[in-house]
Amino acid sequence: MLKVEPSGQACGARVTGVDLSREISPGLASEIRSVWLEHHVLAFPNQKLTDDDLERFTLAFGGFGEDPFIAPIPGRKHVVAIQRRADEISPLFAENWHSDWSFQARPPAGTCLYGIIIPPHGGDTLFANQHAALDALPPEFRARCEGKIAIHSARKPYALDGAYGEKDVARRSMDIRPSAEAHKTERHPLIQPHPETGRPAIFSCAGYIVGIDGMNEAESQPLLSELYRWQGRDEFQYRHVWEPEMLVMWDNRSLLHAATGGYDGYDRLLHRTTIAAYDPAAG
Ligand code: SIN
Repeated sequence: MLKVEPSGQACGARVTGVDLSREISPGLASEIRSVWLEHHVLAFPNQKLTDDDLERFTLAFGGFGEDPFIAPIPGRKHVVAIQRRADEISPLFAENWHSDWSFQARPPAGTCLYGIIIPPHGGDTLFANQHAALDALPPEFRARCEGKIAIHSARKPYALDGAYGEKDVARRSMDIRPSAEAHKTERHPLIQPHPETGRPAIFSCAGYIVGIDGMNEAESQPLLSELYRWQGRDEFQYRHVWEPEMLVMWDNRSLLHAATGGYDGYDRLLHRTTIAAYDPAAG
């Protein structure tokens, strides 16, 4: 039986009483899913998982999402390594608030991240609850966001001249593949209902949002910057502290997340999969 301990912060719960290396029955998947939808990010400690187990877990929640711009680890199509060497000096990966791959036509519902080498301190992952951020938005500010369609693109991080572009990748241990494909755009409402719970949230943020339909840059950038500062306020946050052999799954539709540093001199390695967009027909 699942034991669920809420973090006491703006989201997040620790879940025990389950061995995820065993079969994930449809009943167990639906139990975990409902806890996930309530808490948005779940941490399962003390799970001895292989990449096969990680893939099986991901499939139980709706199949694999597409992972552009990061090559999968050898021998796998859907597992990427989030890693940093002890002596690495490149800027931290994923340090800004974001929702994974929000620039896709159908962004992934969730992300799974499994801790393999976890430094003794630092390297926490921050999460920001975007239902809470929307609920607390002052009415005048909310009115400026309501009904707006945001233009998403991967170009700032993943274009050839982006933050993880050609100049960056040579010195980085992660296998990032910048590409001209990063200039493609997709549109999503700035505020949208969660596809499973219907609860509205602010969707994604300035890292992947490059404009707003019908607004010029001089109008959209101040709004997006102000919103970005709001979205990551302390009161919407949960700070996740990693343990080795811990699996975390988070909801990209209701959360932003950001990596943190503080572990120079130590290796960090986690394996990641993404959960495909929710398909109501599949249940
Ligand atoms: C990510 O955004 O996938 C990485 C988060 C982390 O390294 O803590």
